Amino acid sequence: MLVGLLFSLFQDIGFNHKETQNLFHKNPSLNFTTTSLESLTTRLLSLRSLGLLSLCHSINKQPEILTAEEIGSFLSFIKEYDLEGEIKPQKLQRLLIMTHPNYFAGFERKVRLLIDHGVPLDKLAHVLNNVNIAKVFCHRTLNQIERAILFLDRFGGAELIVRRPALLNLDLEGQLKPRIGVLTQLSGGDENAVGTILRKLPAILTYTVEHLQNHIELLRSFAGLSDEEIFKIFLVYPNICSASKERKLHPRIEFLKQCGFNSSDIFKFLIKAPLYLSLSFEDNLSMKLGILFKIGYENKSKELAIALGAVTRTSCENMQKVTGVFLSYGFCCEDILDMSKRHPQILQYNHESLDMKIEYLTVDMGRHIGELLAFPAFLGYKLDDRIKHRYEMKKKIVGDGMSLNKLLSVSTERFMKKKSPAEMENSVGGRKS
Ligand SMILES: *[C@@H]1O[C@H](CO)[C@@H](O)[C@H](O)[C@H]1NC(C)=O
Ligand SMILES: *[C@@H]1O[C@H](CO)[C@@H](O)[C@H](O)[C@H]1NC(C)=O
Ligand SMILES: *[C@@H]1O[C@H](CO)[C@@H](O)[C@H](O)[C@H]1NC(C)=O
Repeated sequence: MLVGLLFSLFQDIGFNHKETQNLFHKNPSLNFTTTSLESLTTRLLSLRSLGLLSLCHSINKQPEILTAEEIGSFLSFIKEYDLEGEIKPQKLQRLLIMTHPNYFAGFERKVRLLIDHGVPLDKLAHVLNNVNIAKVFCHRTLNQIERAILFLDRFGGAELIVRRPALLNLDLEGQLKPRIGVLTQLSGGDENAVGTILRKLPAILTYTVEHLQNHIELLRSFAGLSDEEIFKIFLVYPNICSASKERKLHPRIEFLKQCGFNSSDIFKFLIKAPLYLSLSFEDNLSMKLGILFKIGYENKSKELAIALGAVTRTSCENMQKVTGVFLSYGFCCEDILDMSKRHPQILQYNHESLDMKIEYLTVDMGRHIGELLAFPAFLGYKLDDRIKHRYEMKKKIVGDGMSLNKLLSVSTERFMKKKSPAEMENSVGGRKS
C-alpha cells in the first residue's frame, strides 16, 4: 500500500509509473535498505513545499536531493526560518540542481553567522535572494564566511550586507580587502570615514582596484588635487566612481581648467557641485551653458564656471523660467548677469518661490525692485520662516527704511537677542557699572 502511495506521489509531481521505476532503478541510493518509504515521502512533500518550477526536472537532474541528509537539514532550515516561498523558485531550483548535496553541510550555521552579526531575521530572504548562495554558503567554509563578515563589521557590516547582499560574493583577500584598502589609503587611515563612504554607496566595492586607482590618479595628476582633497570629494560624492574617466571626468575637468581654474578652485567647485562630473554634456550642460551665454557670461571665464557649478542640480527648464521671472519684473540681461555674479545661486532657485519673494519685496514690503541688484542674496532666504517673520517683527520698531542685508543676514540667535537701541544702551551701561 505504501508503495502505491509513493507511485502516486511521484505521479503527482509528473513522473509516470515507468519513469518512477527508472528513477529507482538508476539510483541505488533510493533503495529501501538505506531509506525508508516514510522518509522518502516526507522529503518529497517538503521539497514540494519549496514551490520549485519543476520538482520533476530537479529530481531527474539531482536525484540525491531525495535522500541526502544535508538536503534534509537544508529543508528544515528553510522551514524553521520561515523561508518557504520566500526565496525565488528559479534560484532555489538552480541551486539544488547545480550544487552537490554534500556542499549543503553546515548551511544553517553559515547563514546563522549573518544573524549573529546583526542582519535582521526579516531581511534574511532578501539577502539570500541577492547573493550567489552556492558560492557563498555552499563552497566557502564557515571560517571563511566569518572572516569576511568580521572584516566588514568595521565598516558597518550588517547594514552594508543588507543594503547590498552581493558584497558577500566578493572574495575577502582578492577583492574586499584591496578595494577597501585603496580608500583607506586615500583617507590616510581613517576607517570611520571609509565606513561612511561604504554606507553611502556599498556598490563602490564592485569597482576594481584598478578602476578606483585610475579615477584617483586622474584627479591627482590632471586636476592637481591632493589625496586629502580627493578623499573629501569621495566622501560627499562616492558616485564619482561611476562617472567614466574618459567621457566624463577628463573633459569636465578640462573645461574648468579652460575657464582659468587652478587646483584649489577645482576642489572648491567639486566639493560643492560634484554632480557636475556625472551630468551629460549634450543633454544637460550644453543647454545650461547656452542659457548662461545668453545672459551674457563670457566663454572660458571663471564666472561662467562658477555659474555652471551653481546650476548643476537644477534643470534647464527651471533656469529658463528663472530668467523669465527676472525679465518680467523689468530686469535686463545685464542685471541678471550682475546679480548672478554676486550670488550665483539665484539661477537655481525654484522659479515659483522666486516670483513669490520678489512680489513680497515689492508689494508687501513696498521696496524698490532695484534693491535686489545690491542684495541678490535676499532671494535665498526662506519666505515664511525668515523674510516675513523678521520683517513683521521689525517693521513696527524700525519702520520702513531698514537695510535688507541687516534684516536678513544676521543669525537667528543674534536676531532674537538684538534689542531696541534704548534697551541696548541700558545693558551696556549696566555692564560698565
Ligand atoms: C588659485 O586661484 C585663486 C583665485 O581664484 C587664488 O586665490 C589661489 O591663491 C590660487 N591657488 C593656487 C594654489 O594657485
Ligand atoms: C567656448 O570655448 C570652447 C573652447 O575653446 C569652444 O569649444 C566653444 O565652441 C566656445 N563656445 C562658444 C559659445 O563660443
Ligand atoms: C540636468 O540635470 C539636472 C540635475 O540632475 C536635472 O534636474 C535636469 O532635469 C537635467 N536635464 C535638463 C535638461 O535640465
